[in-house]
Amino acid sequence: MTTKIIGTGSAVPEQVVTNDDLSKVVETSDEWIRTRTGIRERRIATEGSGTSHMAAEAARKALENAGISAEELDIIILATSSADCCFPSGACEVQAAIGASHAVAFDLSAACSGFVYALNTAHSFFKAGIYKTGLVIGADTLSKLIDWNDRGTCVLFGDGAGAAVVRAEETGSFHMTMGADGTRGSALACPGRTTGNFLTEKGPELGYMTMDGQEVFKFAVKTVPESINKVLAESETDIEEIKYFILHQANYRIFESIAKRLKIPMEKLPTNLERFGNTSGATIPILLDEMNREGKLQQGDKLILAGFGAGLTWGATLLEW
Ligand code: UT7
Repeated sequence: MTTKIIGTGSAVPEQVVTNDDLSKVVETSDEWIRTRTGIRERRIATEGSGTSHMAAEAARKALENAGISAEELDIIILATSSADCCFPSGACEVQAAIGASHAVAFDLSAACSGFVYALNTAHSFFKAGIYKTGLVIGADTLSKLIDWNDRGTCVLFGDGAGAAVVRAEETGSFHMTMGADGTRGSALACPGRTTGNFLTEKGPELGYMTMDGQEVFKFAVKTVPESINKVLAESETDIEEIKYFILHQANYRIFESIAKRLKIPMEKLPTNLERFGNTSGATIPILLDEMNREGKLQQGDKLILAGFGAGLTWGATLLEW
């Protein structure tokens, strides 16, 4: 038993915010952002285009691309760390919006590793014989968690959603690995969004994302090659057999370091970072959707998807298109 992606979709807000726009808000420059990260612009959600809205739009496009109806879905997993509200979950809002009346639906929180975690979770349900058809979504609106006075973080992130329709199949390959290290959680955190009890405690203060950029950088360039090597070893696949490594889009310099460590050419690491920045759980499925629609993925192509982020969390999936 294996899992295949049979359709993809994505949605980003219309509002484009360029590096020059940001240099009017914080002390930064287009040159600094481009050379340190590879980002030129990002999309930022406006009123009414939050996480569930973008997730539902990406989901509709993925279903259309797969050529199946929402009623055929058994399971919806929405990977997000910026759901619009505590409950109902964003996945339930998507279920209602697209009319997936037979699907179980829940959110999964693994930050920028979320899409890979969600895909691997769907596969585990398929492998156990519980469900056959699923919708895996990565969607985030980190713009609402960002301190727009902090130049160390606000230049990096953008908003967006990407979705994949997945199905249990008899043939093909699917291998996965995941990891977490909560002891290093403070390297990338949004601690002020706890839900306090207003009756007995002081109410929660609106806190923003904090990040130790260099710590996360070092973690990424070590952990991503390790998890890629792990899925390659477990699946007995030679690295040369992999057509593309679709990595969480965080920083172009992280890609360069990973490519060097794995001794793979940069052409095998596609990127759209310059246009969308880091959309957290959405980066991998947005890029996958672009590549699918551009006809870059052929049946039988072996791909590795790899994510890393807050938690700290990481994960990789080797699959056949
Ligand atoms: O999904 C995971 C999300 N997180 C990440 O991917 C983060 C991974 N880390 C990174 O991408 C990089 O560490 C950053 C892009 C965040 C920062 O790059 P860096 O090369 O590690 O820069 P740095 O933090 O060492 O800062 C260098 C200088 C500092 O100034 P001084 O102390 O040398 O005078 C910073 O204050 O750059 C300054 N700086 C900026 N300058 C202009 C920091 N942010 C900015 C900025 N514009 N936006």
